Amino acid sequence: MEVERLSKSFGRVRALSEVSFGVDEGEVLGFLGPNGAGKTTTIRILLGLLHGDGGTAKIGGHDCWTDHVRASRFFGATLEQPGFYGFLSGRDNLRQFARMLGPVDEKQITALLDLVGMTERADDKVKRYSMGMRQRLALAQALLGKPRLLVLDEPTNGLDPNGIHGLRILLRKLATEQGLTIFFSSHLLSEVEELCDRVVVLHRGEVKASGPLSELMNVKGYRYRIDVSDVDKALEIVRAVDGARAEPGTIKGSISVTADDDIARQINYALVNAGVGVDQLVRTEKGLEDIYIQLTGVPVASPLSTPVPSVPAQ
Ligand SMILES: Nc1ncnc2c1ncn2[C@@H]1O[C@H](COP(=O)(O)OP(=O)(O)O)[C@@H](O)[C@H]1O
Ligand SMILES: [Mg+2]
Repeated sequence: MEVERLSKSFGRVRALSEVSFGVDEGEVLGFLGPNGAGKTTTIRILLGLLHGDGGTAKIGGHDCWTDHVRASRFFGATLEQPGFYGFLSGRDNLRQFARMLGPVDEKQITALLDLVGMTERADDKVKRYSMGMRQRLALAQALLGKPRLLVLDEPTNGLDPNGIHGLRILLRKLATEQGLTIFFSSHLLSEVEELCDRVVVLHRGEVKASGPLSELMNVKGYRYRIDVSDVDKALEIVRAVDGARAEPGTIKGSISVTADDDIARQINYALVNAGVGVDQLVRTEKGLEDIYIQLTGVPVASPLSTPVPSVPAQ
């Protein structure tokens, strides 16, 4: 997949602004961003459902708009709100979609229903399905055409923690055992963190960062939160210490520092020596969340999708 300087406006809303990124064959790429970032808009353009105002999106070398049919042979996709016939069973919905692709392969449909854990409910009407079940059926549908690339828009929407865990295992299996390339969007860090080789962080229609998670997380060293009596002075002092990087913390009166273990001691010493009071110095394991907030200014959503306000730790 190759997206280059893709732009799209809805009236005065600039949903995408020169978005560029690529997905390599065999890669699992997380498309991360808070609600309204432009993830679904990008995916709708990839699906040929929407025409960008500028730039290009290509899959397998084919333009997603002008050469939609050939591009779509490469991938299967799910959208945020999977659309199914409610009066048909899950199995019949899959048959219906399979018919559009060619001869219906009953064995394949049964295998796919099994793969996504829908065997027991396969013959119930979709209108009786929960959101999570629709998501799983959508994944089966996306796999019908034996694609090399899966494009999934917030695939864990509506799944309970068990379902999320199951999906994660399934996607990993598809990637490692069948060599599928997977591109999936999420507003939840915890999801991409465990699954992706690489992430693209989107915010307000712009790519804010992209790269391997380990790089974004700066795996070397630790992240510390230091509560200090004077933030500005503390930043100045810490920034002067070799091997330390400091930003204002997300919590008032704190700074966020990335540093090696032994340097933390040095930082503490430097602060106290300069007359800056240190109330506490805590090592935090949430490097990626810090980076996300830093990039987007938006607090990380909890698994229940409600934004978490910054509150001082207990
Ligand atoms: N059909 C549309 N008409 C008007 N505005 C839209 C439409 N689709 C998306 N938008 C706007 O574009 C922005 C990006 O939306 P979307 O791509 O759905 O974000 P995400 O999927 O990351 O939550 C939002 O501000 C949204 O309100
Ligand atoms: Mg969306």
